[in-house]
Amino acid sequence: MKKFKRTIVTAALPYANGQIHLGHLAGAYLPADIFVRFMRLKGEDIVFICGSDEHGVPITITAEQERIPPQEIVDRYHTLNKKAFESFGMSFDNYSRTSLPIHHKTAQEFFLKLFSAGILKEKKEKQYFDEKVNMFLPDRYLIGTCPVCKSEDARGDQCESCGSYLNPTDLIRPKSKITGEVPVLRETSHWYFPLGQYQERLEKYINEKNEQEGWKDNVLNYCQSWFEEGLQDRAVTRDLDWGVKVPLEGYDSKVLYVWFEAVLGYISSTKEWSERIGEKNKWTEYWQNSETKYIAFIGKDNIVFHCIVFPAMLMAWNDNSDQKYILPDNVPANEFLNYEGQKFSKSRNWGIDVQEFLNKFPADPLRYYLASNLPENRDTDFYWKDFQAKNNNELADILGNFINRTLTFADKHFDSKVPEAKKLREIDNKFLQSLPVYKKSIETFYEKIKIKEALTEIMNLARAANKYFNDSEPWKTVKENKEYCAASIYTSIQIIRALAVMISPVVPFTSEKIFSLLNIKDQKLKNWNGCEEPKLSFGHKIESPSILFKKIEDKEIEPYLTVLEKSEEKNRTGNTDSLISIEEFKKVKIKIAKVIHCEKIAKSKKLLKLKVDLGTEQRQVIAGLAEFYKPEDIIDKKVLVVTNLQKAKLMNEESEGMILAIEDEDKKLKLVEIGNELPIGAFLR
Ligand code: MF3
Ligand code: ZN
Repeated sequence: MKKFKRTIVTAALPYANGQIHLGHLAGAYLPADIFVRFMRLKGEDIVFICGSDEHGVPITITAEQERIPPQEIVDRYHTLNKKAFESFGMSFDNYSRTSLPIHHKTAQEFFLKLFSAGILKEKKEKQYFDEKVNMFLPDRYLIGTCPVCKSEDARGDQCESCGSYLNPTDLIRPKSKITGEVPVLRETSHWYFPLGQYQERLEKYINEKNEQEGWKDNVLNYCQSWFEEGLQDRAVTRDLDWGVKVPLEGYDSKVLYVWFEAVLGYISSTKEWSERIGEKNKWTEYWQNSETKYIAFIGKDNIVFHCIVFPAMLMAWNDNSDQKYILPDNVPANEFLNYEGQKFSKSRNWGIDVQEFLNKFPADPLRYYLASNLPENRDTDFYWKDFQAKNNNELADILGNFINRTLTFADKHFDSKVPEAKKLREIDNKFLQSLPVYKKSIETFYEKIKIKEALTEIMNLARAANKYFNDSEPWKTVKENKEYCAASIYTSIQIIRALAVMISPVVPFTSEKIFSLLNIKDQKLKNWNGCEEPKLSFGHKIESPSILFKKIEDKEIEPYLTVLEKSEEKNRTGNTDSLISIEEFKKVKIKIAKVIHCEKIAKSKKLLKLKVDLGTEQRQVIAGLAEFYKPEDIIDKKVLVVTNLQKAKLMNEESEGMILAIEDEDKKLKLVEIGNELPIGAFLR
């Protein structure tokens, strides 16, 4: 491996249109964080960059579906994801967003550089246009029949059923996803990046980096198949109004293609970091200095953009500037993590969000399980039973147990101090001498980003430590030869420190707890260098043992398995909460109303009879709220009423509408209440 002075690590910028799930963590974020934490332990100069990808069609489609502006969508998910990452212990130096001015400026500068150098070519083409909403339809806004497998819900860019990549014009009977209308073809023009012209240089670049760093086979294979197909020109602009505006006169209805600008988000996030730490130009040390190494962590679906498109863009810039960007030295993309045997899928209710998970379980057991099961070379699965087993049988029973036994002994027999080791036996010396050997091999695995192997080796050390403890029989020597016993406990305490340091990139929260049990405050004793040496000396005070890993009971994971069974059943019988079109949703008319009268219905425990004022009329509505509200509590409340439901008769009373309520965790209904600033009679849109 080539030697570098410093390192920049980026992790794919997640789209801010949904919450990150466990698959994202295993694909890119956790391995990146473990690697960065390891490098920091070694005292390396490293920055770790990420942020939200806030443009692109996935976001405008979500906004369209929820009928709110895209900015609201990205604000919501940027905040949620940032927080989820924090709870998971991601140690980014900066978590930015591509909607910030600093990013727009960076991306526009980049575009203009390539434009002024004459690299970008304008092409006129016919594209589908939705006349009803007066806009060009990006490929994902088109649905139709797949020409390959005849599935009826293929998208303009890909058919999810058979996996074929498509062009919008390949679709049979295309329809606009926004209005359901049949689109027309209209002429538009876009700027293209001539990717094909860079193919030879790209192949050479990947070969060289592979020789220096040893790229992963899965990554090389993907690239190889792209090269074999031959690289094509790629449009770098889109007809859309959400995104980074094309900085040319007469192009204000166009934005930069999201993949063209999102990768530049790494650079703008580093600029933001520089500014924040008060060293405005520091970002150039990381991006424009050949002594810096750049590692880009991503999932496999992002390989082409990071190994081919982004490097070509940087080459094009470098050809035309004195400031030369470095290219990725390694792109250690992982395959996917599936969930209990199937792909994560929101619509099929299959998967679990990071935040939801961390509301119930601490981060470290999850980090540990995912790290031991990373899809480094092939897809792997998250299984609840495995998660439970890893926590209970490995973290608690191996690592936790060793620490607990040692500290219990120190507490009971040595006054919670590191005992004086006057006489180390051979068994002790042998173990202490094995520590540098373990350390070396673990270090090599971490350096090569072979996280699973690093962790296996750490756990081998923990297993060996338990065996050492058994073999040295301190419970006997404490009675027969206290000096031997002291030597065992002395040695064990040194091993605990070594383990805590070595495993800290994987379970940082736990390592901190172990350090405080060992009463270690000095940062030097938490570092990689010297972690294999017995540095805690005679008399050093330590704490009494306390529980490090709580065992996970069956009943804690059962609810998740039950949800899965239900989803499976629904998906199998087709009785799924299937997606509806906006057209269908629009049929539901919901209005703000005020409750002007409310009474119980004789003989009914559940029902209340309400009169609501809809502004233009008053109606009677029967609602199943009697168990949760008294009539007098409801009067005068402003609520939401579905006004175009068919009339119904309940307990002989007519109902002309439905009041919206929410079921809370205890299955209690709560009215959706509307603030006073909104007028009675207004429609929900
Ligand atoms: N938002 C993309 C995704 O979630 C990843 C973008 S990575 C970047 O798949 F480099 F473009 F930012
Ligand atoms: Zn198909």
